[in-house]
Amino acid sequence: MANELHPPVEAKLIDLAALRQNSVLFASLSDADAWELIGLARQETALARQAVFQVGQAGDSLHIVLEGRVKVSLLSEEGKEAILSILGAGEVFGEMSLFDGESRSATVTTMEPCRFLVLRRQVFLPFLEKRVPVMLELIAEMSKRLRATNTLVGNLSFLNLSARLARILLNLVQQYGKVSPKGIVIGLKLSQEELGHLVGVSRESVNRQMRAWIDAGIIDHDHGTLIVMNSDALFREALAS
Ligand code: CMP
Repeated sequence: MANELHPPVEAKLIDLAALRQNSVLFASLSDADAWELIGLARQETALARQAVFQVGQAGDSLHIVLEGRVKVSLLSEEGKEAILSILGAGEVFGEMSLFDGESRSATVTTMEPCRFLVLRRQVFLPFLEKRVPVMLELIAEMSKRLRATNTLVGNLSFLNLSARLARILLNLVQQYGKVSPKGIVIGLKLSQEELGHLVGVSRESVNRQMRAWIDAGIIDHDHGTLIVMNSDALFREALAS
């Protein structure tokens, strides 16, 4: 017997339960609507460190991350990078150009091998028009990002390097932290250069500050993985400006 909720063959690689848990787009959709949306999308894969799109490019599609992580960044003319955000499974990007028809507002690059669902404006907008709860979820997500960007601008304007770096590390602890006998392991590998791009300073400055914290027993690193051993001390650093 035909089952309306049965996933189409090409959608079988998609774990709808996991997608629902992480994704604002899918959380409020019925199974039938979720499979319809997946049916409207195409799947794309990308290797690590590939540009999905560059700032200034024309764009009319939205990406949903199924697997992997991407960074959203701006590049100066001299090639300096400022990381605005890191997005993982279930999160969306490309919604800005899709909604306002302008060019891409930032460059999006894969940090790991990634798999995406890609939705074109011409199919996604008619779908969205009939699902107000999904539209509201997307608006809430965009507000959340604007808040995060306000915090970033405020931190860059008002805080010194150690407070900015401490706040970023505490943020990473909150998002990716796993308790281990040694301390809280941050489950996202970031180079010192990338940490510098998140806080707006050079790799050398990050290195100097991290060394001081390692010497003070506040953090440690193990094969490129950061471990926070004294989060109270890091909180104090985050509050000092
Ligand atoms: P779009 O402008 O189409 O392409 C770049 C994408 O990066 C953008 O859509 C958003 O999805 C994302 N993006 C841009 N600026 C930010 C930001 N400040 N925080 C998080 N994501 C962003």
